[in-house]
Amino acid sequence: MPKTSSPIVGLDIGTGSVRVVMVELIDGEVEIVGLGEVESRGLRKGVISRPDLAVEAIRRAVESAERTSGLEVSHVCVGLAGAHIRGENNEGRIAVPGRHREIAKEDIDRVIETACAISLQGGREIADVLPQEYTVDDQDGIDDPLGMLGSRLAVSVHILTSPVAAKQSIVSSVNRAGLHVADLYLAHLASAEAVLSEDDREYGAAAINIGAETTSLAIYQRGAVWHSAIFPIGGSHFTNDIAVGLRTSMPEAERIKRTSGCASHLLLNGSAASEPVEVPGLGGKGPRVVSRQILSDILEPRAEELLSHVQEEIRRSGFDRQLSSGIVLTGGGALLRGMNEVAEQVFNAPVRLGIPERFVGFGNQFEPAAFSTAVGLAMHSARREMSSGVDHQQRRSSEGSGNAGFGDRLKSFFGIR
Ligand SMILES: Nc1ncnc2c1ncn2[C@@H]1O[C@H](COP(=O)(O)OP(=O)(O)OP(=O)(O)O)[C@@H](O)[C@H]1O
Ligand SMILES: [Mg+2]
Repeated sequence: MPKTSSPIVGLDIGTGSVRVVMVELIDGEVEIVGLGEVESRGLRKGVISRPDLAVEAIRRAVESAERTSGLEVSHVCVGLAGAHIRGENNEGRIAVPGRHREIAKEDIDRVIETACAISLQGGREIADVLPQEYTVDDQDGIDDPLGMLGSRLAVSVHILTSPVAAKQSIVSSVNRAGLHVADLYLAHLASAEAVLSEDDREYGAAAINIGAETTSLAIYQRGAVWHSAIFPIGGSHFTNDIAVGLRTSMPEAERIKRTSGCASHLLLNGSAASEPVEVPGLGGKGPRVVSRQILSDILEPRAEELLSHVQEEIRRSGFDRQLSSGIVLTGGGALLRGMNEVAEQVFNAPVRLGIPERFVGFGNQFEPAAFSTAVGLAMHSARREMSSGVDHQQRRSSEGSGNAGFGDRLKSFFGIR
């Protein structure tokens, strides 16, 4: 296997699966060049609970992506996830010293630092701070105040906090798998940024990632994050309901959910409702046959419960009437048939399945919606490299031609302003 260069890599260590996305510049275009996916082990609700098993799953996922691409992975952008992550908004304000001078980068850093003065519970730390908008003197709604004239500067920010231990265990597991952490980013924001367009983020949208044991919410407007939350519920609860309700094993319940499950009675019209589903029994008991309607009767209340929980959070955030671009469902759990229909009823808003752009060509082998977090992490890493002035192409090879304008092409690919 030819291993020559080091691509930009997103690593999503999920509770159900570990996924890897490798992106590179090929013939002047940024492309996904490698994907890896393996069943996850050693995680609970998005948090590493058995590092030895998690390390092994990370290794296998990276190896499978390396095989598909022929490229070697050395650095990754890894996602920070789990229901322990909290998002909150805060504000900071400073006086700009000197008489009506231009606002400098140091002033912006200082006002953000002021906005980060929140009281943290023991064992928690700030994982990330995302500026929402600035106010210079009395002028608000400013995206970037650099170079503006003013004597007072204020900023509103979205602050993400997480237990110190969560980050430590992710970094040490990635290191033990033989990889360096180039970057760490909030998994739920990465996923949202992979499936929301620039317009969605500008006009207002909520991205909901339904995973195996967690569901996340991220609300964007005017290009910024205004609210985010992670709930300890996900697709495995649906599987568990089937296993308990139909007295079958979890693996069989999972298979039945994917092949015959439907969360909305609206899709089960006519003969579809009475279609038979064979359910293998437990403990040597023979199989039983139930209708798809019965299966749907188990799944629909769970879908309503999960999505109502998210709707309640959106309502509490005050953004429920401001989501002009609607709701975008993503993650493996969003693939359950009928999920969109239930969501449209619960949210009373347009709902679509969020698929990361540029996933063409891999769709037959992999489920694009399940890869949104890993794609978003690779995008985030690429953006960081651009803003830090590192030319990825130069860093990884000296082939010369094709380097010019790399940043611009990457920017236009990722829709970055
Ligand atoms: N075709 C499908 N139909 C129904 N459910 C599906 C389908 N494909 C995947 N799922 C469900 O999606 C869930 C896994 O989603 P995903 O892979 O996004 O989770 P994860 O990222 O590993 O977990 P988490 O984000 O909670 O840590 C599982 O509960 C699985 O049953
Ligand atoms: Mg996930």
